Amino acid sequence: MIDNEVRNIAVGVVGCGYWGPKLIRNFQSIPGSDLQIVADLRKDRLGHIKGLYPAVKTTISYAEMLDSPVEAIALATPVQSHFAMAREALLHDKHVLVEKPLTIDSAEAEELITLAEERQRILMVGHTFEYNPAVEYLRNYVARGDLGDIYYINATRVNLGIFQKNINVVWDLAPHDVSILLYVLGTAPNRVSARGASYVQPNIEDVAFVTFHFPNGVIADVRVSWLDPCKIRRTTVVGSKKMIVYDDVEAEKIRIYDKGVDKPPYSDTLEEFRLSYRYGDITTPAISEAEPLEIECRHFLEAVRTGQSPRSNGRVGWQVVRILEGAQESLRQGGQPVDLVW
Ligand SMILES: NC(=O)c1ccc[n+]([C@@H]2O[C@H](COP(=O)([O-])OP(=O)(O)OC[C@H]3O[C@@H](n4cnc5c(N)ncnc54)[C@H](O)[C@@H]3O)[C@@H](O)[C@H]2O)c1
Repeated sequence: MIDNEVRNIAVGVVGCGYWGPKLIRNFQSIPGSDLQIVADLRKDRLGHIKGLYPAVKTTISYAEMLDSPVEAIALATPVQSHFAMAREALLHDKHVLVEKPLTIDSAEAEELITLAEERQRILMVGHTFEYNPAVEYLRNYVARGDLGDIYYINATRVNLGIFQKNINVVWDLAPHDVSILLYVLGTAPNRVSARGASYVQPNIEDVAFVTFHFPNGVIADVRVSWLDPCKIRRTTVVGSKKMIVYDDVEAEKIRIYDKGVDKPPYSDTLEEFRLSYRYGDITTPAISEAEPLEIECRHFLEAVRTGQSPRSNGRVGWQVVRILEGAQESLRQGGQPVDLVW
């Protein structure tokens, strides 16, 4: 019998632009991964990969990869191509890791989920932050109730660039925050509103302010921009007992603030109603420095070996796409709230 722990998985990666080479590096180095073939339409990008990894086959033909013996394919191509290419992979009985967002249409995401179930293949989305040890810490902290009741969340993901040509900043950057929110809160929003503007490219929003309402009263405010002088990747979760800041550009990624406001247990008069402010310690727990993308790639290979549904499975990918569709509709309507019915 083949030992599940060590069985090599033959892998192909499509797309050698900005993100693909990071997947290639990981599938090249992770034990139990056998990166066999890389595809891109651009020969210069394939030449670059060949220079780094001479033993890996390169091709401009996705069909060649589909007909090759690889068991698993990772797609790092532009969002518009995800549905058709993932569908082809599944129809060829390949397991597939699709970069975020899964698709640009939730009906297409559903079709992929159904197809993966029918073919008994793994469908996973590259929600990298679900594999980030700091986000994992945040999630566990919230799940244990250590923050108390969650009041609200505030997230900022801004810097200068990279401007995309076919999708706006909501579809480019907000998938990260939406997947973090779903993962940390363990529930999906039932309302979204979004305002934004296209300052640089016509009709492609480069700045957006998106607000999510969750059924338990939590509000999450997410700011995304390609047009900001500072790189900020910060999520603040404010709870009734404590507050926590996850800052992905800091060396100390998690800071827990023992701060808050205590209400008096009872008060008959306005005089007696005095809030007391708590200014306690700030703690910075040790967080693993393991690369989130490596954890994600290992998780994908493990899912292929065991057949177990991955953390960021097709359903989570579909949820993120539905939420982004709601945000897009609200953007079109100048910020009108859009209900999300699950
Ligand atoms: N998880 C993350 O943190 C993260 C970060 C950046 C990008 N991404 C995602 O990765 C994907 C790719 O983004 P990018 O920034 O690398 O884009 P990119 O434009 O830099 O690269 C895309 C590459 O795909 C190639 N390509 C396009 N169509 C192809 C086809 N039919 N067959 C083969 N190759 C094809 C292009 O030639 C290009 O080299 C997107 O889905 C994006 O959202 C994820």
